[in-house]
Amino acid sequence: VFENSKTASIAVAQEIAALIRSKQEQQQSCILGLATGSSPKGLYAELVRMHKEEGLSFKNVITFNLDEYYPMEPDSINSYVRFMKELLLDQVDILPENYNIPDGTLSKEEIQAYCANYEEKIEALGGIDLQVLGIGGNGHIGFNESGSLQNSKTRLVALDHITRVAASKDFSGLSNTPRTAITLGVKKIMEAKRVILLAWGEGKSNIVKASAEGTVTNLVPASFLQEHDNAVFILDQEAASKLT
Ligand code: F6R
Repeated sequence: VFENSKTASIAVAQEIAALIRSKQEQQQSCILGLATGSSPKGLYAELVRMHKEEGLSFKNVITFNLDEYYPMEPDSINSYVRFMKELLLDQVDILPENYNIPDGTLSKEEIQAYCANYEEKIEALGGIDLQVLGIGGNGHIGFNESGSLQNSKTRLVALDHITRVAASKDFSGLSNTPRTAITLGVKKIMEAKRVILLAWGEGKSNIVKASAEGTVTNLVPASFLQEHDNAVFILDQEAASKLT
């Protein structure tokens, strides 16, 4: 629990930078799983600052984003491709072939094979070294909504009403908000060697409590992280305020 989201984001950026540098020393790739949304914005800003001011290089970094709305054009204002490029990928020296974000332009028939390939690519690289997560008001991780199974695969999912309501401010209304998305499955998230979930603000306090201290249940997918050997919740005071 940190004083505020800024100090927390800096601490997480330092952990990620240390991992990237130690992989560089070993001449290995660093495989990062990344989230979008408001929670990791401060983290990405700090990583960009470290790149620009401290020479942190992303040349050995390979990233896999958790999710993308479906359907979604990459250059659309609300696409996660655009979000990632603007906030991180275009601001650092990562090689364009080294970032992966689920493709929102596929035909329905192509999705299943695409998702299997997304997972195979992660496996071929030896899995995700460090996975960054946010948490939805319903306890979703990625877009693994309430009811997602612990062994769920990367797939097309229907978004919960609560998720769509949260997103609707970006899409100027619920009727314009996508109903589906492609998400990395819970299984690949749980296989990551390290998981860091970020949550800020009073609005997340109830779901943080349910996820960290409640029953492990697929009704609250973030609660699965209680069974991960190396997962942490990084919180500000407000998000932590209901913890016992
Ligand atoms: C985004 C994602 C979602 C968000 C979650 C929290 O890639 O996978 O699970 O992390 O909805 O969103 P914010 O951070 O906007 O509160």
